[in-house]
Amino acid sequence: MTAHFNIPSTVIVGAGARKEIGAQAKRLQVSRGLLVTDNYLVECGLAAEMSSSLEKEGIATSIFSGVQPDPTDKNVLEGLGHFQETNSHFIVGLGGGSPMDTAKVISILANNELPMSQYAGYHKIPKPGVPLIVIPTTAGTGSEVTKVAVISDTERDMKMMMLDTNLLPTVALVDYELSMTMPAPLTAHVGVDTLVHAVEAYVSKKANAMTDPIALSCIRLIAGNLYTAFKQPNNRKAREGMMLAACQGGMAFANSSVCLVHGMSRPIGALYHVPHGLSNAVLFPTVTEYSIPGALQRYSTIARVMGYASEKDSDEAAGLALVKGLRELNDKLEVPSLGQCVKVDRKVFDERVEKMASDGLASGSPGNNPVVPDVQQIVELYHKAW
Ligand SMILES: NC(=O)c1ccc[n+]([C@@H]2O[C@H](COP(=O)([O-])OP(=O)(O)OC[C@H]3O[C@@H](n4cnc5c(N)ncnc54)[C@H](O)[C@@H]3O)[C@@H](O)[C@H]2O)c1
Ligand SMILES: [Fe+2]
Repeated sequence: MTAHFNIPSTVIVGAGARKEIGAQAKRLQVSRGLLVTDNYLVECGLAAEMSSSLEKEGIATSIFSGVQPDPTDKNVLEGLGHFQETNSHFIVGLGGGSPMDTAKVISILANNELPMSQYAGYHKIPKPGVPLIVIPTTAGTGSEVTKVAVISDTERDMKMMMLDTNLLPTVALVDYELSMTMPAPLTAHVGVDTLVHAVEAYVSKKANAMTDPIALSCIRLIAGNLYTAFKQPNNRKAREGMMLAACQGGMAFANSSVCLVHGMSRPIGALYHVPHGLSNAVLFPTVTEYSIPGALQRYSTIARVMGYASEKDSDEAAGLALVKGLRELNDKLEVPSLGQCVKVDRKVFDERVEKMASDGLASGSPGNNPVVPDVQQIVELYHKAW
């Protein structure tokens, strides 16, 4: 069986990588672009810093900051409008997964016809987009290196997942210094999202020889750095480790797959607007416990890499230790249970849980899980995570 491995052709990693934006844009021979970001990144001055770096190379940019967390089709269309009005021909995506995903979809819509819903799913985008430089500020989704974008469909109340090599950024500037301002809860939630990426990539039915070592490296970096980054926001080494982990997590899952945690988490995000990292984190221990029997050896390796078990432990004991370790990690990172997530109301949950389960299953991600559930089993898992 063959495996396809796609990442951006240029990934620049390390402190100060953001400063290479001007040189990279010049190399791409662009002269007018749209910088896609959110309000926070405008207010903290980073959007202006990036624009002025480009200006020094004679490259003009307009800023579009109308991206909301877990972006919608409306955010994308508004950004596309700005792209066209300003006669731009390249895009910069600056921020967490939300601005980067919005930037990716604006880039492909510049060269492909509307409506964007036709591109949801796998390999449905006919033409490449315009040149795209992305700069992550969370650690994180790994979106800077993935051929994936997730956009909420506001009419159908669901998240559209698009996967296509045409969504790959041209250049990723991965600069951990930009992640140092993340508050503790954001650090925790996006950090657990990264861990879920690597674990799901490693246990997926689509795991392969290219993604396995990258996924394990990502897990090791998280074991060594996530809690420190949460407790000590100014710890450069921990921030660097987590930024690298996020990038590796993205490379791993996009070229293997995500599984049941992501399949079940997207409907929570779509219906209750719980941020993506948090909705993954609340499900992670419960879904891991359910999935272990399908890939015991792989989960036991993860437990050992995380430091929850040793070589002396049996695989069964390591599997149990993993579930316990992940529960404790959530506690240490102050991740609430699903029922405690502020925006999740029990009555609405009971009314919607069947639709959530069937939307989750329909996304295709649960089909890659080591144990593939039916709708009823997913409903039970939601209840268990409550
Ligand atoms: N394309 C992919 O491969 C992929 C993978 C996983 C998740 N996602 C998507 O990414 C989105 C989530 O992205 P995210 O978790 O990075 O968060 P985000 O981009 O939604 O940002 C969350 C909040 O953090 C703020 N923020 C960003 N950087 C900050 C910093 N350095 N300091 C302080 N605050 C900062 C933002 O302004 C925002 O208010 C979801 O829509 C999810 O579906 C995409
Ligand atoms: Fe994710």
